Amino acid sequence: MPPGPSAPCDPPIRTPQDRSAVLCGLAGWVPPRVVTNEELSRRLDTSDAWIRTRTGIGRRHVVEPGQATSDLAVEAGRRALRSAGTDAVDAVVVATTTPDRPCPATAPVVASRLGLTGAAAFDVSAVCTGFVYGLASAAGLIAAGVAERVLLIGADAYSAIVDPDDRANAIIFGDGAGAVVLRAGRPDEPGAVGHFDLGSDGTGEEMITVAAGGSRWPARTGEEVSREDRHFAMRGKEVFRHAVTRMAASARATLALADRKAEDVDHFVPHQANLRILRAVTEELGLPEDRCVSNVESVGNTGAASIPLALSDAAARGVVRPGDRVLLTAFGGGLTWGSCLLTWPALHRPDRPYDQGGELAP
Ligand code: UT7
Repeated sequence: MPPGPSAPCDPPIRTPQDRSAVLCGLAGWVPPRVVTNEELSRRLDTSDAWIRTRTGIGRRHVVEPGQATSDLAVEAGRRALRSAGTDAVDAVVVATTTPDRPCPATAPVVASRLGLTGAAAFDVSAVCTGFVYGLASAAGLIAAGVAERVLLIGADAYSAIVDPDDRANAIIFGDGAGAVVLRAGRPDEPGAVGHFDLGSDGTGEEMITVAAGGSRWPARTGEEVSREDRHFAMRGKEVFRHAVTRMAASARATLALADRKAEDVDHFVPHQANLRILRAVTEELGLPEDRCVSNVESVGNTGAASIPLALSDAAARGVVRPGDRVLLTAFGGGLTWGSCLLTWPALHRPDRPYDQGGELAP
């Protein structure tokens, strides 16, 4: 007897495919304006010592008035295309929590400004997990044969949504963008992305929010919307605990899918939330501290930009080398989390961690 018809989504296909997305370009860009802990301490009830001890952050970059997420994304995207040696992609994906406008998405204008009008372009909204979700989306487009090359940009301008007088959040977040180019290749090539673990828990929706301004609570003129409800809010302590447990679990799940152990990981590149979180997750995984890549001291928490900025920093410093096994893990609002394992490819090595303003050198 032939087997009967199975349910439309059954059985799950877990076998590796012969077509994979391969990392072939990387760049980061941060706006030139630097805000130090000392500067924050002059107008908020905080101190350099408190910020460094509780978060490991020393400074962050912020946009100038009038500068938006797409401006950051274009700078990083242009440099990533150059790093990949290409000026053509089939899709542009922008991971962001701070789109230029609620409507439309930011990706189409970024694509057009990069000379990529006509390419598919959409945003991914998964807060600080956005880059890993974007990576999975881009990898899926390539694996399915929908695209040959994808530009993925993680870009955020948190200074647009964080209340500058909120000392708990103003000290943490910075603005910036990091970008990668992915091309179609083989799963066994260096740079092939995957395995992935992605997850969410919407029961934690209230832990990280901007309360007003969406369809649940439109921020219409004339209606009472408090300053607090118009800004980013985070239950720091609860988020801290979830970040550690969820990131460790996601990293482990990814290693299990790939049939690897933590000690097989040369570089662990977590979302740069807070140095204490990074250290706690690294310890949970049983990894030595020096396997954890961190640039949180110099850029703060840059949301969806944080993993590509950390990668760009590590690549420029020669920390991450071709053939190294790299594990990316993120956690963010939603709640959302995700991880991806890859072997580092022979990329063009950036001469500095990330550019800060100015024109691209010819
Ligand atoms: O990227 C998305 C994921 N986000 C994160 O992963 C962030 C997770 N959370 C954190 O990083 C930490 O919870 C924070 C950095 C936000 C806060 O650190 P904490 O060690 O959890 O401090 P806390 O909120 O428990 O506050 C301790 C004390 C409080 O004073 P009392 O109530 O003990 O008198 C705060 O009012 O520190 C006070 N405080 C500050 N003091 C000086 C809070 N912020 C500041 C500040 N400067 N900036």
